[in-house]
Amino acid sequence: MAINGPSHVNGELSVPGDKSISHRVALIAAVAEGASRIEGFSSSADCQTTLECVVRLGIRVERSPRELIIHGNGLSGFQPPETAEALQAGNSGSTIRLLSGLLSAQHFASEIDGDASLRRRPMTRIIDPLTRMGAHIESKDGCPPLRIFGQPLRGIAYQSPIASAQVKSCVLLAGLLAEGRTTIAEPALSRNHTELMLKEFGARIEREPANAWSVEGGGRLNPINYQVPGDISSAAFVISAAAALPNSRVVLSGVGLNPTRTAFLDVLRQLGARVTTHDLQVRHGEPVGNLRAESSELRCKSNKTTLSGRVIANLIDEIPIIAVLATRVEGRIEVREARELRVKESDRIRTVVDGIRSMGGEIEEFEDGFAINGPQQLKGGLVESAGDHRIAMAFAIAGLFAEGTTEIRNADCASVSFPDFFEALASLTGPGAVEIL
Ligand code: S3P
Repeated sequence: MAINGPSHVNGELSVPGDKSISHRVALIAAVAEGASRIEGFSSSADCQTTLECVVRLGIRVERSPRELIIHGNGLSGFQPPETAEALQAGNSGSTIRLLSGLLSAQHFASEIDGDASLRRRPMTRIIDPLTRMGAHIESKDGCPPLRIFGQPLRGIAYQSPIASAQVKSCVLLAGLLAEGRTTIAEPALSRNHTELMLKEFGARIEREPANAWSVEGGGRLNPINYQVPGDISSAAFVISAAAALPNSRVVLSGVGLNPTRTAFLDVLRQLGARVTTHDLQVRHGEPVGNLRAESSELRCKSNKTTLSGRVIANLIDEIPIIAVLATRVEGRIEVREARELRVKESDRIRTVVDGIRSMGGEIEEFEDGFAINGPQQLKGGLVESAGDHRIAMAFAIAGLFAEGTTEIRNADCASVSFPDFFEALASLTGPGAVEIL
């Protein structure tokens, strides 16, 4: 993929359905009792992977361009896969971690694996709490493949050491099948889609003080009709482009605006970006609205912005694009206490640092983050995505900021979350800026 900069972005766009919500609705509908109808399900490769897993577990899924119908079979209704081959989670941490919670309490043994990137990602964070609930899981030194021997589970009270929605969701889903009550607390609030959705499906779930949730095991879930909002993490790329480039304005319709996901918008506004939300409504407990972003003067208040602590969990997936944006902002942007980035689809501190440097930019690397002094004029260069979708897309936007041509190697991985990203970008930039090689 080649990007010819500098450029600008103008127009309207719809982004794919929210990836986090789509994983959850596929898995929860699969263990509800009866048919759930889902509109706006994410076209991402990751969410297709989750669907394929539930199909292999005996769940009937009807697909049409308008909607998905998932015929849930009850909490213990998965069937062992017909062939011995492992369930495939591909590149998707959400698929393996959330599904493991449900598999731990089924009446059969299963194996779940992923691609080379997923095989490097830590699973002890779910194996520990699930084992305390009575699960029996074997791993390869704490990483996939996981062999899960279904067992009766019991409820626990668990204090998670990390703010991770995948860990929280895994434990809550296992809690649906456990005997008694399961409580999970986390050090900072991570995205809360699972909690909101479990309520919609009729689970007995309650909020506890201090970022904790409890679920009662042994109930049943009712099927529902669900409309998935657009993914704010996909929208973040074009919003950043519009805010940072001259003569630019984009409008995105129907984007999910759950406050556990919108810290990125708060950061942009603090930097002076003209980003506004319109036509807000709440669907299934999830705020949804239209977003408008336009060319802005970007500046850190008092010359420095530090992103660290509790806010990190809320904008973890947007940090690569924040790094790119930082090159257009007057002042210093420092990201700290973001070690989690090192165990994402790539080591995102490393891949961000390498990407900025290969475009002639200056960036300081820390063990738990990075710092960029802006503004800096990037130059066209060769960027390696390392197979990481958010790195490919963030550096495509960097290519619009840069002078000259930027080549993104292995850019196809954008399809992990946003299959038509480069076509969408081309429709906003006009001819010549985005060359689909
Ligand atoms: C996700 C949670 C986050 C996020 C990931 C999706 C989810 O990961 O980075 O892209 O759907 O729950 P962690 O929960 O591991 O922080």
